[in-house]
Amino acid sequence: MRTVRDVKALRGLVAGWKAAGNSVGVVPTMGALHAGHLSLVHAAKAGSDRVIATIFVNPRQFNNPDDLAKYPRTEERDAAMLMEGGVDVLFAPPPEVVYPAGFATSVSVDGVASELEGAFRPGHFDGVATVVTKLLLMTGADRAFFGEKDWQQLQVVRRLVRDLNIPVTITGCPTLREADGLAMSSRNTRLTAAERQIAPALHRAMTGAAEAIRRGVPAGRALASARAALLAAGFSAVEYLEVRDGESLGPATGAPARILAAAVLGGVRLIDNIPV
Ligand code: PAF
Repeated sequence: MRTVRDVKALRGLVAGWKAAGNSVGVVPTMGALHAGHLSLVHAAKAGSDRVIATIFVNPRQFNNPDDLAKYPRTEERDAAMLMEGGVDVLFAPPPEVVYPAGFATSVSVDGVASELEGAFRPGHFDGVATVVTKLLLMTGADRAFFGEKDWQQLQVVRRLVRDLNIPVTITGCPTLREADGLAMSSRNTRLTAAERQIAPALHRAMTGAAEAIRRGVPAGRALASARAALLAAGFSAVEYLEVRDGESLGPATGAPARILAAAVLGGVRLIDNIPV
């Protein structure tokens, strides 16, 4: 596996692969990799001849400077995992390569980005949309792989790729969970041992609500008891816990709908989503 930090070298490699008739997959990440990321790498390897993984802790998508400062940076360990996973190139650009002096462009997606995470993390999706657009254009990949764990992000990326005619196929990959149901996330490492015991209550509450809704319990009632269960379990706040249309993220008018949630446990904000 080669590590590349500048766009010219990356483009040279990709041009060579494409000239030889190889398809290229990309797995964009911010590092601090876990088994969930590796499942994206496996999907990319199954669906492409060559695989690029990117590691870039994107400052523009952190609406909270403390969160950015605390984000784990573990490139050496990540690189070993990616090499083991069969990645051909790790693209890990420094901030000035992604945002050179004078950088003045932002990609902003309306509609699908505006509520839920968009409402609680102002500017977050502008940062995500801008960096994902750049990573797709810099790598020139034919396919890009994103986790369903960040469901709203996946819909935002699908929208921007359609709207901007970026020639790439977006593939969503299922959320990987710990044995107790907690969705794998780089943020889980920031939970204390006691919080880690409480954290699976999020998935449990959401699953309970989804089952109740399928049984015919009105969504408002099912979600209210899930919210109460989370607060009783020890979560300090439930920012949102809603049933939405799975694609537009507007009001759920029929199948396929999705429950999406963000809740705070100690100093950590956890998000999750499941189908109804
Ligand atoms: O999901 C992530 O890790 C990030 O939001 C992404 C897609 C790599 C953009 O920085």
